[in-house]
Amino acid sequence: MTAQDWLKREQSILTPALGWDTNLRIRRASGAWVETDGGERYLDLSCGTAVTNIGHNHPKVVAAAKAQMDAMIHSGCTYHYDSLIELGERLRDITPGRIGKFFFSNSGAEAVEGCLKLARFVTGRPGIIAFRGAFHGRTFGCVSLTSSNVKYRTRYRPLLPEIYLAHYPNPYRNPSGEGEDRAAQFALDELDRIFRHAIKPEEVAAVLIEPVQGEGGYVVPPAAFLKSLRQICSEHGIMLVFDEVQSGMGRTCRWFAAEHFGVEPDIMAIAKGIASGFPLSAVASTPELMDRWPAGAHGTTFGGNPVSCAAAAATIDAIREEKLLEKGAVVSEKILSRLREWPSRYKAVGDVRGLGLMIGVEFVKPGTKEPDAGAFNAVCAHALENKIILISCGPQGNVIRLIPPLVATEQEMTRALDVIEEGIRRLR
Ligand SMILES: Cc1ncc(COP(=O)(O)O)c(C=O)c1O
Repeated sequence: MTAQDWLKREQSILTPALGWDTNLRIRRASGAWVETDGGERYLDLSCGTAVTNIGHNHPKVVAAAKAQMDAMIHSGCTYHYDSLIELGERLRDITPGRIGKFFFSNSGAEAVEGCLKLARFVTGRPGIIAFRGAFHGRTFGCVSLTSSNVKYRTRYRPLLPEIYLAHYPNPYRNPSGEGEDRAAQFALDELDRIFRHAIKPEEVAAVLIEPVQGEGGYVVPPAAFLKSLRQICSEHGIMLVFDEVQSGMGRTCRWFAAEHFGVEPDIMAIAKGIASGFPLSAVASTPELMDRWPAGAHGTTFGGNPVSCAAAAATIDAIREEKLLEKGAVVSEKILSRLREWPSRYKAVGDVRGLGLMIGVEFVKPGTKEPDAGAFNAVCAHALENKIILISCGPQGNVIRLIPPLVATEQEMTRALDVIEEGIRRLR
């Protein structure tokens, strides 16, 4: 069957609503590499949209999942099983601060929904503050909290009420001038305006934030901003909820991005990388808060699936045993020190930012800050010709979402950056 026939066959059964990043048809994947039907190997710098943080089909994950499949695939909260505890105890060790109890679900959106249900339940308050440019998922609740692109909300109204959108501090694109201090201050002033004009803090259940804004452009906020947010939330009894769906599970070369900022959330959403590709997510919180959520207040059929939990426990073990956070940090340092020279070298590169292996390279029209999606598309096409898979982020798709797996080697990344740099040089 030709590639075109195969695409036609697929299109005949799938809604076009589902977007794809490439037309590659993959038959096998291992580590940082995927292999097409025709036997061509591609370096996967997308990690299946930020999921395979320890590489595809890690042998420890495959073995753990196979063993659990042989034993029992499903429970549906009818009976108890070991892999759930094995995972929960490991997660308790790696999550920030006093976080130590979990509710397991299937997807990132479900986890975010669960976080907000918990926040409303324990506070008895209606208001939720989310941030402009955020992406939290596709359910009604999550699209109501999502504003990275208007397409996620269009024709789905009415959305969830009592959601207030605050300003996310972006040191590169800050209305009062560039830099971390100004960006932090501007965003705090905006939040204050919400409290003075729209909703009093005592009516707010949760402030929901991505500690690194993902889909919105891989924006790293100033630590001072997150620290102030922590203070404001504690002062007013508001739950600080971190959406670590994309930034968590080693993506930033720490277990969770929160660690980079020295800020502990009250509640956290975890998904994507947690089980290396098996569907799993978690609402994570402190025992004090979790214990105020009574039986039946939330639930699931498939959440915390035994196979997914076994895969997740093995993922954590692999990261620890193979020192993948440390190894990733060394590669990240090399990548970032090279990339940080690009804005002064190439007019098309406006900004480079990132934590660990969660790195954004933003394209702009030369001499301006006007987003240039065309530049990303050209560089991405050049990379694909050279067997490198890149995906974008940013409201206008003008940012390279550079997310290699923690197992990518320095040599692999040097070659990838050579190709990307050549793509940039070819831009007119
Ligand atoms: C920060 C963040 N939150 C939530 C989600 C939603 O996750 P899912 O697609 O698994 O529902 C995503 C997905 O990209 C995400 O990046």
